[in-house]
Amino acid sequence: MNTKKILGIDIGGSGIKGAPVDVKTGKLLEDRFRIPTPNPSNPKNVAKTIKEMVKHFKWEGPIGCGFPAVVQNGVVKTAANIDKSWINADAGKLFSEATKLPVWVINDADAAGLAEVKLGAGAGFKGAVVVLTIGTGIGSSLFIKGKLYPNTEFGHVEFKGMDAEAYTSDATRKKEELDWPAWGKRLNEYLTHIEFLTWPELIILGGGASKKLDQFKDQLNLKAKIVPAQFLNDAGIIGAAMAAKVSLKKKH
Ligand code: BGC
Repeated sequence: MNTKKILGIDIGGSGIKGAPVDVKTGKLLEDRFRIPTPNPSNPKNVAKTIKEMVKHFKWEGPIGCGFPAVVQNGVVKTAANIDKSWINADAGKLFSEATKLPVWVINDADAAGLAEVKLGAGAGFKGAVVVLTIGTGIGSSLFIKGKLYPNTEFGHVEFKGMDAEAYTSDATRKKEELDWPAWGKRLNEYLTHIEFLTWPELIILGGGASKKLDQFKDQLNLKAKIVPAQFLNDAGIIGAAMAAKVSLKKKH
């Protein structure tokens, strides 16, 4: 199996994005392709979209998929921003059967974190790192010495009597029409809480909002160094491919 080039796919609450990735450098080998997340986003419809993605790239090799939920050995365990019928579905098996290709599935924020910590904004950093992806939901990943502790789900810690992502996600910023400084203030409160729980030395901010860090960085007052994700919105695609390289090799 050629594990140098892997099709990375990032399944999100609003879009499914993919591109073939050179897993050594993290470079996208073709322009990324986006398909809106189907509605309902149930296993059957998402599997169909993954098949469409494979067809678009005429892909015949291994695939790595980031999925917006807790994923253990390919099995989905939660469903905050995806159809509830995913709970306990074996996404790895389903996508492998749909595409007839080897597929590895991990949490989307864990994927993005892997790309950033191995090749991006946290490359070479050996201390404690928290990566947060701010989009429809809030995804998180936690690293020490470059090693991932999976499925941390810091977007769902209770904050101000609600799910943290309901207070601070990018979707909430849009819904409540908050300007960047107002939203940045909320983000700072949330990050202060995460910092209190985990004491990272470095926080990497990913997801759509990370592109706008300049607009709200004056609102952030944290102990840890905070930097935007280097791969910005491509981190999930790249990291999913990187995770597949390691995990599919073990399996095959
Ligand atoms: C999910 C996480 C996911 C994040 C970003 C959250 O609602 O629970 O698993 O990483 O959204 O997609």
